[in-house]
Amino acid sequence: MSDPSPRSGILDIAPYVGGVSALEGQKRIIKLSSNENAFGPSPLAQAAYTQAAEDLHRYPDGDCTELRNAIADLNGLEAERIVCGAGSDEIISLLCQAYVGPGDEVLYSQHGFLMYPISAKAAGATPVFALESDLTSDVDALLEKVNENTSLLFLANPNNPTGTYLSGDELWRLRQGLRDDIILVIDAAYAEYATRDDYSSGKDLVDGGGNVVMTRTFSKIYGLGGARLGWGYCPAGIADVLNRIRGPFNVSTPAMEAGLAALGDCGFIDKARAHNDTWLAWTREQVLALGLETPPSAGNFILIKFPVKPGQNSAIADAADAFLNSRGIIVRRMAAYGLEDCLRITIGLEDEMRAAVGALKEFLEQA
Ligand SMILES: Cc1ncc(COP(=O)(O)O)c(C=O)c1O
Repeated sequence: MSDPSPRSGILDIAPYVGGVSALEGQKRIIKLSSNENAFGPSPLAQAAYTQAAEDLHRYPDGDCTELRNAIADLNGLEAERIVCGAGSDEIISLLCQAYVGPGDEVLYSQHGFLMYPISAKAAGATPVFALESDLTSDVDALLEKVNENTSLLFLANPNNPTGTYLSGDELWRLRQGLRDDIILVIDAAYAEYATRDDYSSGKDLVDGGGNVVMTRTFSKIYGLGGARLGWGYCPAGIADVLNRIRGPFNVSTPAMEAGLAALGDCGFIDKARAHNDTWLAWTREQVLALGLETPPSAGNFILIKFPVKPGQNSAIADAADAFLNSRGIIVRRMAAYGLEDCLRITIGLEDEMRAAVGALKEFLEQA
């Protein structure tokens, strides 16, 4: 009897590995590895999630009507063109399932989010990346990679793991340079943290009608990564397609209820954003003062580049990671992104950031 085999290409996919959350022998852990909200979930969202347990025997509203209406009201969008999913990962995957297959190319930026190549390969398509400049997506390099097979382009803005972003004008230039039949997906998972004037989440481009989709998540500033909730804002035709292929009940009732409550807790979001503004700036300043490189970040994390020994790209970053672990601090290794000499650190609570910077200093002094 022979083993069943998956479609060609599936076994070439390296599974996504999430942030580590425990360390052997360490009781007190400071987890700065998954860009989660430093304050946890909003207490209102937590209460709504718990309340939803009473109706666990009921199927959810498969259309997420109340949630889509609330998202639309808050963001000035059309509810009919919002599609909700189990995290924005699901929207990314549905877009690939629906629009690409063997022979198609899916374009993304060199250090773009790993789920883009994974979802492209899962759909049988070929992922293609364009080089970045100074760890920032490069519109001209992306446009140069476009050919007759290009069907989809994913751009995380701000990007994870680099933290860098393209201005609204650059996004517009990118869309203008693409054929009309190429879908541009602007992944704005960190939009709520991006406070600079020239930043745009991409919603105007979606409304502009040019085959642009914006994806968003409840996993970052809304603090609901464990509930799995995200959404896409799409042209009507694309929303219709995604609604045809998604699971009929792809968002659970507790996730929906928690999301609704989180949207209403503006004070919590404002507090999280203000905290991030302060401690992102502080952490970057401290890291630069230690003589390490770190690109400017518009998200809730920073990428730190460590010096490299000849022929040993990752030696110092590896040693720094091990040292942080020995202090109970978990950050994210970046080898899967081709950034072996880097670590990514999420902005946590004040004492967590002081501990992380203190440990980095100690590491460099003894290195
Ligand atoms: C850029 C980017 N897009 C999408 C996601 C996926 O988020 P979700 O939890 O909504 O699936 C992440 C999560 O880290 C991310 O960094």
